[in-house]
Amino acid sequence: MARKPAQEPAQRWRELVEAVEDARRRYYQHDAATMSDAEYDVLFRELVDLETAHPELASADSPTQSVGGERSEMFEPVEHLQRMLSLDNAFSEDELAAWAARIERDLGATPELLCELKIDGLAVDIVYDRGRLRSLATRGDGRVGEDVTYNVRYIPAIPRQLTGSAGHPVPDLVEVRGEVYFPTAAFEALNDEMLAAGRSPFANARNAGAGTLRQRVDRREAELSVMRDKGSTTVPRLEAELELAKRRLGGLQLIVHGVGVWQGHEPSRQSEAYHALRSWGLPTSDRAKVVGSLAEVQEFVGYYGEHRHDVEHEIDGVVIKVDDLATQGRLGSTSRAPRWAIAYKYPPEVVRTRLLDIEVNVGRTGRVTPFAVMEPVKVAGSTVSMATLHNQEEVVRKGVLIGDLVFLRKAGDVIPEVLGPVVEERTGDERAFVMPTHCPSCGTPLAPAKEGDVDIRCPNARSCPSQLRERVFHVASRGALDIEGLGFKAAMALLDEGIVADEGDVLGLGRDDLLRSQFFTRAEAGGGRVLTANAEKLLTELDTARSRPLWRVIVALSIRHVGPTAAQALAREIGDLDRIAAMSAEELAAVEGVGPIIGRAVVDWFEVDWHRDVVEKWRAAGVLLAEERVEAGPRPLDGVTVVITGTVEGFSRDGATLAVQEAGGKVSGSVSKKTDFVVVGENPGSKYDKAVSLGRPILDAAGFAVLLEQGPEAAAAVATTGAP
Ligand code: IVH
Repeated sequence: MARKPAQEPAQRWRELVEAVEDARRRYYQHDAATMSDAEYDVLFRELVDLETAHPELASADSPTQSVGGERSEMFEPVEHLQRMLSLDNAFSEDELAAWAARIERDLGATPELLCELKIDGLAVDIVYDRGRLRSLATRGDGRVGEDVTYNVRYIPAIPRQLTGSAGHPVPDLVEVRGEVYFPTAAFEALNDEMLAAGRSPFANARNAGAGTLRQRVDRREAELSVMRDKGSTTVPRLEAELELAKRRLGGLQLIVHGVGVWQGHEPSRQSEAYHALRSWGLPTSDRAKVVGSLAEVQEFVGYYGEHRHDVEHEIDGVVIKVDDLATQGRLGSTSRAPRWAIAYKYPPEVVRTRLLDIEVNVGRTGRVTPFAVMEPVKVAGSTVSMATLHNQEEVVRKGVLIGDLVFLRKAGDVIPEVLGPVVEERTGDERAFVMPTHCPSCGTPLAPAKEGDVDIRCPNARSCPSQLRERVFHVASRGALDIEGLGFKAAMALLDEGIVADEGDVLGLGRDDLLRSQFFTRAEAGGGRVLTANAEKLLTELDTARSRPLWRVIVALSIRHVGPTAAQALAREIGDLDRIAAMSAEELAAVEGVGPIIGRAVVDWFEVDWHRDVVEKWRAAGVLLAEERVEAGPRPLDGVTVVITGTVEGFSRDGATLAVQEAGGKVSGSVSKKTDFVVVGENPGSKYDKAVSLGRPILDAAGFAVLLEQGPEAAAAVATTGAP
């Protein structure tokens, strides 16, 4: 995302919006960051500045207007009683002073300030109803989070019952907010264990914490009980996995740092609220400190800047809050963050390591990117040996030579960055990096896409092995058609074994194709070969992928500049790939959320013969290329609510859901009296028991087919209310 010179503000705005949204999606949904917090902060700040300078660019759905974070589909949604806001950041003493000056001006006095550590964990919202824990949820998008209540029984750090006292009675209803985290030592032990078990370690403590809290322990227990009943041989493995999951949950800690709804005798200060919370048994930080001046805030910030690693958990800054709750109320909040609090962020951490070499990588769109290969070094909790250098100019700008000792930065997260050389350590044996003139993958001469471009590209888009591999892999990626079982290795195997010639062939893959592959088959006792379990899974996944929403198909096409935001705009406004292909650059540019650069890129893309062949191959494979399909067909299941549990024969999980939705029905995650049908496949979960106990109509795979083909009346006639 390096800023290119003389770029149009509108184009830069779109790029930033896309990058920020993409980073948020990955961060919140997949528990893995693709960019460092520091990089994210820089982008976000640039976006805010750009919108300040060009207010015409800002729109209501800009990420600057929202808290960020989305829910994953895997969990039941829980609506927070009160919205969970985010925090504004200060990256320097000056910015901190400016915030303090502003509130002082607004209030006409210096308020007492509460200084706390900013815990690098996972935000949670916990509701206690008459002292009893009612729900534990992740933040989600700030309004609705994911329900992880079930896991609470395995997290001793989170009390399930609050204990009041005469001085501090427990309110009838109280919503507390806090941070769930792995203490650094527990995180390191966990990662050692992961490595010993041959599994990949977590990049940092926050990811480990998020991954741990967001485990579906309930599903695993249900699966285990079914497998036990069946006497399955997988029982010991499932038991071991479940044990590990519980042990990990047991290692999580909580620090409470805020309250939402509070029904009962209300405190008048945040610090007083902490005393009450602590007296009921909730863990609060004993490092929080009320101070009376900015100088004391700075002292607190300075102290923990020096002693960051003496704290038992990761911190990435200090949070400063106005202590008096009535004053907080007077200062109020924006749609994203309160005005009465600010997060001072520490600068990212820096280490030194040897730059062993600079190699180049050829990306999906042919961009040739140099990257640093370094002596492995531990920084901010994980070991790093590679870092992107973006382009040749960047290598020159950073002034690094191969063989240099370099500064490497990584701010408690994933993407490392080479800052520059330790010049005084040079021996004279270092050598400059020379950008190759030919593609390291296919040997084609490299060139900038157009004159003056910083990036150079391999123009052999159609058959450069690197680009092909990246494109095939991209088709299956989570942001595109989300095909599990088609990872990088599988993409490589399909191409190397000649099973697919390019991304066009991927969606049409069938059983016979995969049977020709070594990668997707294994030898059988009799001498023949059979599909592996992964291959079987891939076949079902491909089935689902063919009816994914249009915007995902558009993303999967690898059109330059077209990410999820632009693709969603096109799908929403035009709704049909053939119509998009027939539009002029001007017409496309007029679509809200598209603009001239993307409009041009779409037209250019469709002008290439083999690109159109890809679309035709997908069409022939049955990929849905228009959006109207849901509304177009008859809706026999209008108003019908279905719950699906277990794997329904002939459908992938998403496939069964989609089938109901396409017939106009609603799929719900939990069984209630309002559920019209419960579809029970193989290995059903606890929803089956619930369906029986509530006497809801139950359908097996055959009954499900009746429902889809003949409608609810016919299905009711074949449904049971006992075992199917
Ligand atoms: S107060 C309305 N205090 O940082 C204010 N947040 O970057 C809500 N965080 O979403 C937050 N330590 O999850 C607060 N001592 C602390 C915190 C803290 C970590 C997290 C919190 C928030 C995020 C914002």
